[in-house]
Amino acid sequence: MRRSIITFVLLLSGIALNAQTTLQILSTPSGKSTFPKLAYSYMALEPNIDSVTMRIHYSKHFRAYYDNFMKAVAGTPYENQSIKEVFANISSAPAPVKNNAGGFYNHALYFEIMAPNSGGIPGGDLSDKIGMSFGGFENFKKAFTDAAMGRFGSGWAWLIVKSDKSLAIVTTANQDNPLMGNAEVKGTPILLIDVWEHAYYLKYQNRRADYVAAFWNVINWKVVEDLYAKAIK
Ligand SMILES: [Fe+2]
Repeated sequence: MRRSIITFVLLLSGIALNAQTTLQILSTPSGKSTFPKLAYSYMALEPNIDSVTMRIHYSKHFRAYYDNFMKAVAGTPYENQSIKEVFANISSAPAPVKNNAGGFYNHALYFEIMAPNSGGIPGGDLSDKIGMSFGGFENFKKAFTDAAMGRFGSGWAWLIVKSDKSLAIVTTANQDNPLMGNAEVKGTPILLIDVWEHAYYLKYQNRRADYVAAFWNVINWKVVEDLYAKAIK
């Protein structure tokens, strides 16, 4: 009995240690990064995002970026740098470090800001800020959707907090992100959508617009509000 309690506690600690949030990922030495646990099941976002896409996206694509990032930094000075430092000096990083650092962090945030039984509209300070910045939530939704649709090829659309604490919608190509030193517009990401075809093709084929429309039903605004609160501190 005693042994099973100890095992149970150890298992719980293991789970807790493994549950690295993106904010923790940003400040952890890259070589000590852990693969984030998905907080919901593969089928939890049905019918907006299907379970096969979720399984392949999380356990194959995301996992490969993480594994390749760990391989790329192993035995190099990048091992001891936080991923935030790696992003800041990305121009000097070799391609495997750059692409996989981006792929790892971007996907960690993507899976973190989604949840079942969510969607709707943000609350609190973020709601006010979006209202002031974009002239209302519907205008913001349209601008973000337009950005996601307008990103040519593979990439991401983002809502970021700039250094002056203003909000901006931007897009990046491939696995680039707004934390990278060479980003056209820099800022702290609080919301993002993956518009690589691997994120939607199995269910939506070429209909990116339908995927982007469905994405609004799975945004976990509580997490986004929390990221906003930390970004403006
Ligand atoms: Fe992806």
